[in-house]
Amino acid sequence: MKVLYTSLECYPLAKVGGLGDVVGSLPKYLNELGCNTEVILPYYDNDKVHQLVCEDVFSETINLGIHHYDFTIKKVISSEFGFQIYLVYQKELLFRPNVYSYDDDTERFIAFQLAILIWLRNQEIKPDVIHCHDHHTGLIPFLVSQVPAFQELIDIPTVLTIHNAQYQGWFSYDKLDYIPQFDLHNIGLLDWDQCINPLATAIKCAWRVTTVSPSYMEELQSQANGLEGLLHHEKDKCVGILNGIDHTIWNTETDPMMIKNYGDKNIVSGRKANKKWLCDEFGLDVEKPLFAFIGRLVYEKGADLLPDICLETLRNLDVNILILGSGDHQVENRLRSVKEEFPDSYNTYIGYDEKLSHIIYAGADFLLMPSRVEPCGLNQMYALRYGLIPIVRRIGGLKDTIIDIGDDGFGICHDQVNVQDVYNSIKRGVEFYENQKYYREKQKEIVKIDHSWNNSASKYIELYKSLK
Ligand code: ADP
Ligand code: GLC
Repeated sequence: MKVLYTSLECYPLAKVGGLGDVVGSLPKYLNELGCNTEVILPYYDNDKVHQLVCEDVFSETINLGIHHYDFTIKKVISSEFGFQIYLVYQKELLFRPNVYSYDDDTERFIAFQLAILIWLRNQEIKPDVIHCHDHHTGLIPFLVSQVPAFQELIDIPTVLTIHNAQYQGWFSYDKLDYIPQFDLHNIGLLDWDQCINPLATAIKCAWRVTTVSPSYMEELQSQANGLEGLLHHEKDKCVGILNGIDHTIWNTETDPMMIKNYGDKNIVSGRKANKKWLCDEFGLDVEKPLFAFIGRLVYEKGADLLPDICLETLRNLDVNILILGSGDHQVENRLRSVKEEFPDSYNTYIGYDEKLSHIIYAGADFLLMPSRVEPCGLNQMYALRYGLIPIVRRIGGLKDTIIDIGDDGFGICHDQVNVQDVYNSIKRGVEFYENQKYYREKQKEIVKIDHSWNNSASKYIELYKSLK
């Protein structure tokens, strides 16, 4: 079965968050189970992409209203990824250093989707399924089912995975002429609240809709940034499938980004070496428990509360805190300023650093995830795999993956997102850490938990098969 993944991110070529990790790993696991999964993403202006050897396989022009853009589909010549990758090279709109946050994102995403479909319509062997990820490729299910210019693709089943319903990609009707001609009686399929809303459109038009954890699917029925009614209405075609992680990349014995690799037998000394490096690098005391946060500094992650959580914690407990993240500039500045009061027990790295994230997973003692919304969350699974204890809010995928130590589990959980509850969890973490024997036992237990895609890849295959 041939499945085409359409996505803006795919690790290691383009990653902003978990979407990149998922699209960079799930296809590999699907292919091991006999699927032929291919991924298409934009040809970005970044070093990873520049290093690829590619062959041009198709060229044409996209029309966006009165504008015409030439594009080329490049086929990556390499077996290192475990799946075939194609890239859409489009000089004016897609050949950019960053994935998101340009003023013309709407034009960029539509151009990407049109290029994919123009290419597919000209392919002799078409995919059996097109799997779209998030709103960026959410117009595809509409385009293949409603646009006569893509008539040849009308029978191809489409699947949408919602990684995050907070972002919907809506734009105004001024841009309707970017969408090729279709029967205007069906314009309602594009509409949500008097805007064109690609996520809502995909929910309406895709054959199946998945979310990245079962709990998130349940939560979306009552809270989906305005789309709850729609999701409830479409619930028969919706299913939540828990994300997995890539055990080949996230492997403490072979991970080239860590300071020292370790396995079951030397987990304590291995983690100590990584912790020591972190403490030396960030001016922290290696003897104290190290609490870390890794992630996008946005409201959904509870990042706005982090400065106060850090202050409350450092004023009352003898611990270290290290923050790795970027996002909201105000939060970034507030986080930086905590260091003025606690120069020896607190530090930040404001930015994105993949290598540093691996060292933190390999060396910190606790990982903080005070998320308001967490469709799945991969950080907690990386934490378990590397042996650090997650402290999470019980929501979405966090609820589906972390069990509190009080319930014979291996993490620390709280129900609400506020400074006091997170602080109380950190305090529980300190008590837990003081009982080193118990802490080490749990550490040995968590690294054995299998959150690899082995568990969920077969669920996707079943879903694809059900579309025949
Ligand atoms: P989301 O996709 O909502 O950001 P996930 O938990 O699914 O959250 O995935 C986040 C991924 O991005 C993880 O691989 C995490 O390690 C990584 N990550 C997030 N922020 C940073 C950062 N500043 N530097 C390095 N890696 C980061
Ligand atoms: C989104 C979600 C995150 C999820 C990731 C991968 O970015 O915020 O919870 O893990 O997608 O599916």
